[in-house]
Amino acid sequence: VRDLETIDIEISLLLEAIYRRYGSDFRDYTLSSVRRRVTLAMTHLHCETVSQLQDLILGDPAAYDRLLQHLTIPVSEMFRDPAYFRAVREQIVPVLLTYPSVKIWIAGCSTGEELYSFAILLKEEGLLDRALLYATDISPSSLKKAQAGIFPLEQVRLYTQNYQLSGGKAAFSDYYQVAFDAAVFDPSLRANVVFADHSLATDSVFAEVHMVSCRNVLIYFNRELQNRVFTLFRDSLVHRGFLGLGAKESLRFSDVQASFDDFASRDKVYRKRGAS
Ligand SMILES: C[S@@+](CC[C@H](N)C(=O)[O-])C[C@H]1O[C@@H](n2cnc3c(N)ncnc32)[C@H](O)[C@@H]1O
Repeated sequence: VRDLETIDIEISLLLEAIYRRYGSDFRDYTLSSVRRRVTLAMTHLHCETVSQLQDLILGDPAAYDRLLQHLTIPVSEMFRDPAYFRAVREQIVPVLLTYPSVKIWIAGCSTGEELYSFAILLKEEGLLDRALLYATDISPSSLKKAQAGIFPLEQVRLYTQNYQLSGGKAAFSDYYQVAFDAAVFDPSLRANVVFADHSLATDSVFAEVHMVSCRNVLIYFNRELQNRVFTLFRDSLVHRGFLGLGAKESLRFSDVQASFDDFASRDKVYRKRGAS
C-alpha cells in the first residue's frame, strides 16, 4: 500500500500526462475530488496503482475516455434546486424579455438536464423563440447524451416534483414521450441550442451572452482556476448580464467580486455591473 504523499505525486504526474497527451487540463481541480475520482477509475479499469493507470491511458484512448467519465462527474438533475429556477423564471426572465433576442450560456451542461430545464422554462415564459442557448462541456459522451435528450424514466418523478416546485406552468408530461424505460424530450426544445466542446480551464470567450448558468462545476476547481473562470464569465456577459451558480458556489472573495452585484443572493444569482 502506498502512502498518501506518493499517491499525490502519482496523481499530479497522471494529470500532467493527460494534459500533454489529450489536452484536457485537470491540474487545477481540487486534489480531494481528483483523488476520489481516480481511485474509483482505478477499480473500474483494474489498475492497482495510479502509475499503472497513467501507463494505460497514455497508450489507450478508449481507457482515457472511461477515465474522463469518472473525472468529469456527470451528475445532474432537471430543475435541480427548484428555488434557483424559480428565481430565473420570476426575476431574471422579466428582464430578459425586454431584449429583442437573448443568448444564454449553460457552462458545464453535462448530460443536458439543466439545459432542458432552461428550455422548458423559457418556452413557458415566451422567450424560447428569441433565445439562443449555448450548451458546453468537456465531456464528449455527456454532450452526446445532452443532444439526444433522453433521460431514464425512473428519474422523471423527481424531475416532475422539481419542475412544479420551480413554478412550472404546464403538465411536465407535455414535454416528453415515454419509450420503454426512457423519457424522450421534445426535440423542439433544442431547436435553438448550440452544443459545443468548450473547456473552462483552457478555452476563451466565444460569444457575448445575457446570462451564464454554471452550476456545480466550480466546486471541483481550485481558487486560481475559479478566478480564471469567473473572469471568463465576466468578459462574456453584457453589462447588467446575469450569472447563476450552484448552491455551494459563490463569487464572494473572488477576483471579480467588485464587477458584480448580488441579485438573488440566496439562489446564487449575480448581476454584472453596468459601465461606469
Ligand atoms: C456535476 S456536473 C454539473 C451538471 C449541471 N451543470 C448541473 O448542475 O446539474 C459537472 C460538469 O462539469 C463539467 N466540467 C468539468 N470540467 C470542466 C471544464 N474544464 N470545462 C467545462 N466543463 C467542465 C463536467 O464534464 C460535468 O459535466
